[in-house]
Amino acid sequence: MDRKLKLCFVAGARPNFMKIAPIIRVLSEISGKDSLSMRVRDMEYLLVHTGQHYDRNMSDVFFRDLGIPEPDWNLDVGSGSHAQQTARVMIAFEKVLLQEHPDIVIVVGDVNSTIACSLTAKKLNIKVAHVEAGLRSFDEAMPEEINRRLTDTISDLLFVTEQSGVDNLLREGVSTDRIHFVGNVMIDTLTDSLKRFEDGKHTAAKRITQWTGSHERYAVLTLHRPSNVDDRETMSGIWSAVSSVADRIPVLFPVHPRTRKQMEAFRLPLNGVSMMEPIGYMDMLYAVKGSTLVMTDSGGLQEETTALGVPCLTIRENTERPVTIDVGTNYLVGTSSSSIRQTAELILNGNGKKGGLPALWDGHAAERIVQILTEFSP
Ligand code: UD1
Repeated sequence: MDRKLKLCFVAGARPNFMKIAPIIRVLSEISGKDSLSMRVRDMEYLLVHTGQHYDRNMSDVFFRDLGIPEPDWNLDVGSGSHAQQTARVMIAFEKVLLQEHPDIVIVVGDVNSTIACSLTAKKLNIKVAHVEAGLRSFDEAMPEEINRRLTDTISDLLFVTEQSGVDNLLREGVSTDRIHFVGNVMIDTLTDSLKRFEDGKHTAAKRITQWTGSHERYAVLTLHRPSNVDDRETMSGIWSAVSSVADRIPVLFPVHPRTRKQMEAFRLPLNGVSMMEPIGYMDMLYAVKGSTLVMTDSGGLQEETTALGVPCLTIRENTERPVTIDVGTNYLVGTSSSSIRQTAELILNGNGKKGGLPALWDGHAAERIVQILTEFSP
């Protein structure tokens, strides 16, 4: 090929930003005279932000915290129903592709922007690489499960974070040459970011210690899954368990906009839980790192707590990240009040599991991805 190989990275929603950041960093920092560096110099890239998340503290803060360059394109699609959001991304992204003509589109995770952009690219005969492929909750009521299955089906390169992902893809009949077990880019970001706390002067440290004060033990809570927060009965049950944890230790609760609306509608009492606006990546990392336990329905936090060795109660009936339970510090506690409470007690009484680090969660996943991209001919 005469011209440079052109990569197009896509990010749309909060959990995407930590996944593209390390790949872009490797591409921009590689320099040298070895053959990999030479091949990287034969590549160029652009970044598209779909605008699925748009609030300052759901998007801009992450770009700043993670040193991600300004996007070349912002599609500004905003919120809407699944069909509206997916369709708006597709229409806007098609225009970008027709103007930019990239050779490979790189999508991450499982949000609506992930399927919208991979489908648009594929229909234009552009190759697609999916980072975080193969994860399966086997729960089709989850929009993310549909997004990731469809994205995997049409992706040319499948970058996998854990062995279960490889097993799932093989079971679905995907050929081995498309599957690459590279490790976890989220953990690259985490490993790198932890170094920034080493001198103890990071502003995140100050902000979070201001909140924790003299408390040695505290919990972190996040909730945003529609199946949890949109249903009054489920949310009330979860809240009763959270309140019993808050009776023992303070609970820090950065609240997703969707959840705030629902909490107000259901008039749930705060009971000692400190609600705050969503916080940035570095603040959250600092808070989780020092916490006694995390309660969450997020996908990413299940992985981050495993990497940090912090016990995690996953408030869901299933997980697409089984390695965090088999190897890490994660517990799948479901949504019933009694089960959340019992596991929290176990941990608060010092009887939680210790956990280890899953294979290839070593901070070098992005380098493996870049190596494979340079060897791929579209
Ligand atoms: C999305 C992802 C989910 C991911 C989550 C992380 C899908 C299907 N879901 O869910 O997988 O775990 O992001 O946060 O892609 N809103 C704001 N400001 C924003 C963004 C959203 O106020 O910047 C509010 C709007 O009322 C919006 C609602 O949050 O309708 C939901 O946003 P949306 O992007 O549709 O889904 P999330 O629940 O954030």
